[in-house]
Amino acid sequence: MLTQTELKQNVADAAVQFLLPFLGPDVILGVGTGSTVDLFIDALAPHKDRFRGATSSSERSSERMRALGIEVLDLNQVPTMPWYIDGADEVDHALSMIKGGGGALTREKIVASVAQRFICIVDESKRVETLGRFPLPVEVIPMAREAVARRLAALGGTPVLRGDFVTDNGCQILDVSGLSITAPAETEALINNIPGVVSCGLFALAGADLVLMSTQAGVRRFERNP
Ligand code: 5RP
Repeated sequence: MLTQTELKQNVADAAVQFLLPFLGPDVILGVGTGSTVDLFIDALAPHKDRFRGATSSSERSSERMRALGIEVLDLNQVPTMPWYIDGADEVDHALSMIKGGGGALTREKIVASVAQRFICIVDESKRVETLGRFPLPVEVIPMAREAVARRLAALGGTPVLRGDFVTDNGCQILDVSGLSITAPAETEALINNIPGVVSCGLFALAGADLVLMSTQAGVRRFERNP
């Protein structure tokens, strides 16, 4: 029986193997955040001379890549990227996701939006029928925190401030439990429209294009448009 860390390692390795044929001197990769992505960065580093560099969704990933000799580019220097690679906290059958367990959701959404395709790397514990068992992270501007919390409660959720946590953007996170998200794209748009919300951790309006999912029987592949 593989442990969760071994499952994460397997999918990190599989993502690198998947990407190798697409690398080249001009290729810039978008890299997300989290423990699965940490393993991906480590597996990618030996191939650092086969691509130009990467742009990242967090200080944490940027530091890790720099330490391993991968050039980190400012997103403002990058007009487009072929791939964005990131983990998720939940993924459903339509390849919609909840992300933001590590608190990097806004930058993840921004970097992903510049990439042509999103590869989500997860272990099978992240697969759900309906999104919402994992509390939905919502990044808020601090002065709007209570106003946003009341609006989220009116939607049926229970928002809890993530204590002692400030995002890379200087904002706070409300983790919202109790939402059964049966229409992820609509819920994402609704929450994004609350004044004071920077972004929410639903990735449904633009979900994953490819999910690599590590299982006890190997890494499975799910594609949006195979
Ligand atoms: C960070 C994220 C991560 O991708 C998500 O939390 C999964 O993390 P891990 O790979 O550690 O399970 O969205 O904001």
